[in-house]
Amino acid sequence: MNQDNLDKIIIIDYGSQVTQLIARKIREIGIYSEIINFDKSKKIKENKFIKGIILSGGPLTITKSNSLNLPDNILKLKKPILGICYGHQILAKKFGGSVKISKTREFGFAQIKSDKRCPLTKNFFNNEKNSVWMSHQDIVTRIPSGFKKIASTQNSKFAIIANEKKKFYGVQFHPEVTHTKNGKIILKNFVLNICQTKRMWSLRKQKDLIINDIKKRVKNEKVICALSGGVDSSVVAFLLNKAIGKKLKCVFINTGLLRKNEEKEVIKNFKKKLKSNLIYLDASKLFFNKLKNVTDPELKRKVIGKLFIKLFENKAKKIKFLAQGTLYPDLIESRSVTGSPTSKIKSHHNVGGLPKNLKFTLVEPLQTLFKDEVRKLGKELLVPKAILQRHPFPGPGLAIRIPGKISKYKIKVLQEADYIFIDELKKSNLYHKIWQAYAALLPLKTVGVMGDSRTYEYTCMLRAVTSQDGMTADFYNFDKTFIQKVSNRIINSVNGINRVLYDVTSKPPSTIELE
Ligand code: XMP
Repeated sequence: MNQDNLDKIIIIDYGSQVTQLIARKIREIGIYSEIINFDKSKKIKENKFIKGIILSGGPLTITKSNSLNLPDNILKLKKPILGICYGHQILAKKFGGSVKISKTREFGFAQIKSDKRCPLTKNFFNNEKNSVWMSHQDIVTRIPSGFKKIASTQNSKFAIIANEKKKFYGVQFHPEVTHTKNGKIILKNFVLNICQTKRMWSLRKQKDLIINDIKKRVKNEKVICALSGGVDSSVVAFLLNKAIGKKLKCVFINTGLLRKNEEKEVIKNFKKKLKSNLIYLDASKLFFNKLKNVTDPELKRKVIGKLFIKLFENKAKKIKFLAQGTLYPDLIESRSVTGSPTSKIKSHHNVGGLPKNLKFTLVEPLQTLFKDEVRKLGKELLVPKAILQRHPFPGPGLAIRIPGKISKYKIKVLQEADYIFIDELKKSNLYHKIWQAYAALLPLKTVGVMGDSRTYEYTCMLRAVTSQDGMTADFYNFDKTFIQKVSNRIINSVNGINRVLYDVTSKPPSTIELE
């Protein structure tokens, strides 16, 4: 996607866990923002569309000689700069101030007090005070000449500093996190008033830009897309459908490892809404045969992944382009400052996302978007709500929710239990409060009693977690009445299960899925 002609704010990433939030908040204001990692930022050249620079927070200390600094080419741009946390300390140090490692860490909420007015803090303070979110150990102990102290907290004498002439600002706290009250006002003041950026970013405009872009790239060629029925692949299919209509070939492979009624719903949704060709392949027998006697979790994933790709390739002969739902966070090398590779990419997870060594030219129309933006774009494209708000579902499907050997019988039992759990969540308005919920079938039979008879059946495990991005997660705290209702309904209506457990582990140390 070509974003070259949009006013933009560049965010230099020094490795903070919340850098992406800065970009999202700025886009919410209606301005395009791009995250560039520190190494790449050294190559940024003068460009009339760059209106301002934000220096992110980061895990390093500017007091050490190997710390990351502010590249000179950035200063040569002569644009307004806002430093956040580590970025604030970089600014102070760069122009002759001092930063020291403090004895006390400042972590969590802090009360900030205004000392002077400045354009950055217009409407930010409530009666000269506010509550902000801090996460740092180093502090600025002396500010450079030309800078003024604007606000302070108990631990940070220079919590906000400003050089109004040069339009350089530094904040020790994190305005991008929701815990900072009025944090967005700081970002708004910076990008709209100080940088004078025009609001050119909206998902409605993006939709048209992306569609035109696809048309230009693909011309008369065909494009193939692996459809899973999840949010990303669905939005990609709807975009391509608008752009190239019948030249799009969507392949939906039924692995036999889907949830109850899933294949019917996917076919119904897409047949009705898309002019494109939908190729439905029922490969459930093939998958069951290949998985017979496979118990090792990694082997299961490999068997499923390999067969999926083989079937897909068969359908994709003579097609040049492959459309994929790669998202912006997948492309950001945000962790590289600490020496570790981008940890977002999970190599063992790429069943839906096909490997890059397939011989296609990639079309990745979502690559500048965040997940919540993809949902909004989907709304613009009239993707059914039920698809847009679905919980994530792994490529290997129910196979990784049945530890040990899988069988048609187990899949059927699990589908019924899972359906009940999700149905109850929806009825109690809990579905959208939860990142992901599912039932699993444990390879464990226990004795129970139903009526006057002894039973010896499988154990069902329920899992429900809250999360931002699936990388870390907390188990959801249901009240007893709800979980009891689900348990009763499963036991009473699903043959094959006589015991229900709830998983109360977070990630880490567990993972969301079982295998
Ligand atoms: P874990 O189990 O690693 O899962 O905590 C994190 C998130 O990733 C999803 N997941 C997958 N998604 N293909 C996918 O498309 C996969 O192979 C896969 N494995 C796990 C999981 O459902 C959760 O949302």
